[in-house]
Amino acid sequence: MKTTLSTLKKMYESGEKIACLTAYDASFAHWEDQSGVDVILVGDSLGMVVQGNATTLPVTLDEMIYHTKMVQRGNENAWCIADLPFMSDATLEKALEAAACLMKEGGANMVKLEGGERVLSTVAQLSSLGIPVCGHLGLLPQSVEKKGYKVVGRDRHSAEKLLKDAMALQAHGVDMLVLECVPSPLAQTVTEALSIPVIGIGAGAGTSGQVLVLHDILGLTVGKTPMFSKNFLEGADSIQKAITAYVHEVKAGYFPASKHEITL
Ligand code: KIV
Repeated sequence: MKTTLSTLKKMYESGEKIACLTAYDASFAHWEDQSGVDVILVGDSLGMVVQGNATTLPVTLDEMIYHTKMVQRGNENAWCIADLPFMSDATLEKALEAAACLMKEGGANMVKLEGGERVLSTVAQLSSLGIPVCGHLGLLPQSVEKKGYKVVGRDRHSAEKLLKDAMALQAHGVDMLVLECVPSPLAQTVTEALSIPVIGIGAGAGTSGQVLVLHDILGLTVGKTPMFSKNFLEGADSIQKAITAYVHEVKAGYFPASKHEITL
């Protein structure tokens, strides 16, 4: 059955963990969907794991549309989120146009954008136009040249700011929030303060669900795999079984284990 926002809301309310995984093409989207992944994220991480760039910054809107289209051809049931790529939300007009293209041409169900205060009016506009929106706080890969790849929220000031941004995003209409590279206790505090699903990546077990990058869970990432991820292909004899194991471990609360957590 097709996963909708109301399905995800019910899962959230009943305490069922939401399993989210990135995909960038039809075949992987098909097997993720068949393996019980609830939410497929067409992340701009494709700039790194598919295109071989050092960051997500070079990814264009046309490339995001192209990959979202492919994913949606292979996906039957999972909810599909597409990232607004770097600078495509630099102005309100650009963001509205980009979100419309991702949904109309790409077939995305929801768009995701990075940031707190800066994106509030964009979130409100998108939401008022009937576009489901996912926020993204913590480590922001699109701001890496300015802020680096760093854990966010270890000191009191940044922890308070993150919580404030999360509440403001919710008040302006986000339906879901991704938290990346945040100490587990803070991620849990944010999750408990909000009434929407919070999906963590490197944010511990206290969130409403997890998201990982496909290439990390299959041991395909060139270079170092983040400590908060896990190679699910180890011990599995097929890609589908590895993805199924990921979904199972998220739902059962086995993943992330304490060794994957970022502490204060
Ligand atoms: O682009 C992506 O894959 C993401 C995840 C890291 C959450 O935004």
